[in-house]
Amino acid sequence: MALRVEGFAIVSDDGMLADASGVMPRDLLVDADQRYLSDALDRAAILVHGRNSHEGQPHSRQRRRLIATRSVAAIAQVPDDPNALLWNPAGMPLEDAAVRLGVHEGSVAVLGGTDVYGLFLPRYDVFHLSRMPGLRLPGGRPVFPGVPEQTPEETLSVYGLRPGPQRLLDAATGVSVTVWRRCE
Ligand SMILES: NC(=O)c1ccc[n+]([C@@H]2O[C@H](COP(=O)([O-])OP(=O)(O)OC[C@H]3O[C@@H](n4cnc5c(N)ncnc54)[C@H](OP(=O)(O)O)[C@@H]3O)[C@@H](O)[C@H]2O)c1
Repeated sequence: MALRVEGFAIVSDDGMLADASGVMPRDLLVDADQRYLSDALDRAAILVHGRNSHEGQPHSRQRRRLIATRSVAAIAQVPDDPNALLWNPAGMPLEDAAVRLGVHEGSVAVLGGTDVYGLFLPRYDVFHLSRMPGLRLPGGRPVFPGVPEQTPEETLSVYGLRPGPQRLLDAATGVSVTVWRRCE
């Protein structure tokens, strides 16, 4: 089975996904970045995220997803959503969970939060890291465990990924994305 694992996140200057109360501030919801994410998620075979990290986009109901939780031993149905399963990564490998949703190949889009992003650090083939300049969220939820002591870029580097060129997504806010790829 060939699953390609891709992460997506937008972070503040200090590497945060959300503020100190665990809420993603509106300043991190930028149309151009949301479009970038939505286009990629429409191409993904499956999404993986924790219960507070649903992307909440117009096409969301059509996307197949695994919702990471320790509340099940391995895998369980989500009531009223045939496209979603509750999944405990400690109880079942990703490949087996994907098969339960009829997925045997393609891209797995990882949408966070902190611990779910961290879980996949050894496995990312690609990580799409967007940055919002001029915003700091002290005491907030970091993109990876170990941030902000280590920057998100240092973390990706330690795990064997290397950056491509930075691409400006939105001139008004300065939001950019850098695509990090695993080196062979
Ligand atoms: N800026 C961005 O790009 C971005 C991206 C993602 C999220 N966010 C924001 O960041 C915040 C994230 O919220 P959150 O920290 O509560 O994260 P979350 O990952 O959405 O939810 C946390 C839950 O995920 C489950 N989980 C985490 N690690 C697990 C593991 N190793 N095995 C099994 N289950 C696991 C647990 O569920 P159970 O308690 O059910 O066991 C845990 O309580 C939200 O405000 C969200 O909007 C922002």
